[in-house]
Amino acid sequence: MCTKQAESKPLANVIVIGAQWGDEGKGKITDLLSRSADVVVRSQGGVNAGHTVVVGDRTFKLHLIPSGILGPETECIVGSGTVIDPQVLLEEIDRLKELNVSLQNLFISQTAHVTMPYHRLIDKAAEERRGKHKIGTTGRGIGPTYGDKSERTGIRMIDIIHEEDLRKKLEWTINYKNVILEKLYHLPPLEPKAVIEEYLIYGDRLRPHVVDSSLKIATAVQERKNILFEGAQGTLLDLDHGTYPYVTSSNPIAGGACVGAGVGPTIIDRVIGVAKAYTTRVGEGPFPTELEEEVGKLLGERGAEFGTTTGRRRRCGWFDAVIGRYAVRINGMDCLAITKLDVLDELEEIKVCVAYELDGETCHHFPSNGNLFAQAKPIYQTLPGWQQSTANCRSLEDLPKQALNYLHRLAELMEVPIAIVSIGASRHQTIIVEDPIHGPKRALLDANGTPVTSYHDSDQFQL
Ligand code: IMP
Ligand code: MG
Repeated sequence: MCTKQAESKPLANVIVIGAQWGDEGKGKITDLLSRSADVVVRSQGGVNAGHTVVVGDRTFKLHLIPSGILGPETECIVGSGTVIDPQVLLEEIDRLKELNVSLQNLFISQTAHVTMPYHRLIDKAAEERRGKHKIGTTGRGIGPTYGDKSERTGIRMIDIIHEEDLRKKLEWTINYKNVILEKLYHLPPLEPKAVIEEYLIYGDRLRPHVVDSSLKIATAVQERKNILFEGAQGTLLDLDHGTYPYVTSSNPIAGGACVGAGVGPTIIDRVIGVAKAYTTRVGEGPFPTELEEEVGKLLGERGAEFGTTTGRRRRCGWFDAVIGRYAVRINGMDCLAITKLDVLDELEEIKVCVAYELDGETCHHFPSNGNLFAQAKPIYQTLPGWQQSTANCRSLEDLPKQALNYLHRLAELMEVPIAIVSIGASRHQTIIVEDPIHGPKRALLDANGTPVTSYHDSDQFQL
């Protein structure tokens, strides 16, 4: 994917998306791929996302800035479809500066919407008001920021770098929001002047990074640079195609990457999905394969399943191939990265949900009707576990045969080739099955109508 090798390799613009409910380990996979990307684009979401970054002996969390920023030449673009909390963004910038990371290549869309203090307050107050119907949001003001964008009362990055515009817009908006804060939620009102001054300071500091991001990406396309579109959250959290209303307020699916970045779908060469070898979900909402007892706890402990942003315990369950197949379809996924296979190492047997039972019938498709999905009962296939460590495996041949068998079954059920298998947090704990970028695309069906999921070592993609 590197321009330096452009002569020997075709160029590629790649979208990486989460195939489940977020937290699939996209951070590790994008980190792997972004080292050969010229440009990394974040298209949607805000500071609800989070990934942990390690620089030398220091570990810290990034919510908005792609980890590609650590590559001195990599341009990182936070696109129009994102929502920006400038306070958190500036904290990230400061943290990176302390570590001598150059921020010269950080670009922020002028049309991205800005999270304001009233968004955070309303997010939390609305959740409280929903009581047992709460969504379990991250409390970062994401829904209310996107809500204002749809309602056309939002504040954009371009506004916070123009004093006059900001004063005019915010005075009106804060007075309007104060009615909601006071009358609906019985909260103290915000002081318009103080908020305006605070955001003018943020605007001043962020001004050098603010650009026409869609134009910037178009230029990169023209220069035949390799672009990685890094998804946040996951397919089942998609506002339109996820488990509504238990979703986030943006479009984490592959199509959302184009909308949020402002590029046409014709420039995309590849869509790579990321899924854990089991399933997790944080927040409320139906989760058919959830395990509340022992095995669920074991997965949570072995997988360190706590949210990066909120520290909440993630709910854990068996792999759900029905939602997996759905994610392949809705994203037009070419290949899949399976992460955290090692978390299953100790289990004697492993279950995979192959279909749902719904009203006494077998259902192979994800029901987009939320009420039906909430009633779905998993139909499991049980596979033997391998009960040995996979942490040191470096190729498919190193894997125990039961683990290989498990991967084969997942690929078969989802009708998509598995290109990458991750068996630990470190970069070395990665098995490249196929070149995820230049290897065979999702070879739909072979002559016999069987999905092609060949397994051979790639000579193109190097770690
Ligand atoms: P919001 O995005 O804060 O509005 O939260 C809506 C739902 O999406 C909640 O269930 C959150 O737990 C979930 N969510 C949002 N961002 C992430 C993420 O980055 N990983 C996993 N779940 C997320
Ligand atoms: Mg995360």
